[in-house]
Amino acid sequence: NKAIWIDTDTGVDDAVALLTACRIETINIVGVSAVHGNTTLTNTLRNARDVLALADREDIPVYRGASGPLMYACKTAEYVHGDNGLGGVNLPPSSAPYMEESVSQALRRAVSKYGRQLVVVALGPLTNIARLILEFPEVRSLFAGIYLMGGAVYGGNVTPCAEFNIYSDPQAAEIVFQSGIPLTMFGLDVTMQAYMTCEEFQQLTASDTAISNFLRESTALARKYYEPDFAGGMVLHDVCPIMALAYPDLFTTKLAGVFVETQGQLTMGKTVCDLYSDYHFADRHVMVATDVLRADFVRTLSELLQSYV
Ligand code: BDR
Ligand code: CA
Repeated sequence: NKAIWIDTDTGVDDAVALLTACRIETINIVGVSAVHGNTTLTNTLRNARDVLALADREDIPVYRGASGPLMYACKTAEYVHGDNGLGGVNLPPSSAPYMEESVSQALRRAVSKYGRQLVVVALGPLTNIARLILEFPEVRSLFAGIYLMGGAVYGGNVTPCAEFNIYSDPQAAEIVFQSGIPLTMFGLDVTMQAYMTCEEFQQLTASDTAISNFLRESTALARKYYEPDFAGGMVLHDVCPIMALAYPDLFTTKLAGVFVETQGQLTMGKTVCDLYSDYHFADRHVMVATDVLRADFVRTLSELLQSYV
């Protein structure tokens, strides 16, 4: 079994990713940390705990991470995730308190305990992970690597050049990308292919169970946001790295060099990637996911989510 640590700014697709991870038998979730992002840290911390409670996994320790980026101010995304981060759905509150230890300390302990068995999955801005690297630089060679949702070879979703998680803390992202830690990047190039159609979504949520109702209601606002392109369906960005851990054959990845633009006026937060360029950076150590077998992804994901009774 893989030991995984999930760092999340628990919004709508993060919640689906957490629920999915909890149903994958080959994954042992050893910790979850909350970070600012889709909404405030107060909300993401509560959401992470409440979603784990919904999955009946209150045994997983949840840690309180960074309330804002390393520099600059928070940029939240209530227009997709709602004021509380879960599309306005108020889950029954978790009875498990969050842990008092800092994310860096707890992750450092996890690295010591699980070593190369440990994969960190980052689903939000990379502030917590950058802090870990700054506080405990030795960890860089001691664990398996990071699977992260963020960036894009082409385009962006918050500016023409930048994806939300990277744009929210470009300095942290650049620390992570240049850390030498083996990285697998799930950017918009692949995550925008990982969508569910309206029909697939209706099939998934046809029953009247707590999970099904949560999926239907929490995603309603996000599905409206995606309306122009996905008509009632939605994109499941954060589910990609989780699925890739258990079902790597669903994804195509290619080696590339990636740098994060931390200064550009128009290009701030862009992941500059040499994947399709004749010019190659000297350091190419990022596996960039480029494609997903969408139909198989949706089928496998639906089976996992429907396995909640
Ligand atoms: C990313 O930003 C958030 O809105 C999602 O949860 C995902 O992590 C997509 O750009
Ligand atoms: Ca996220």
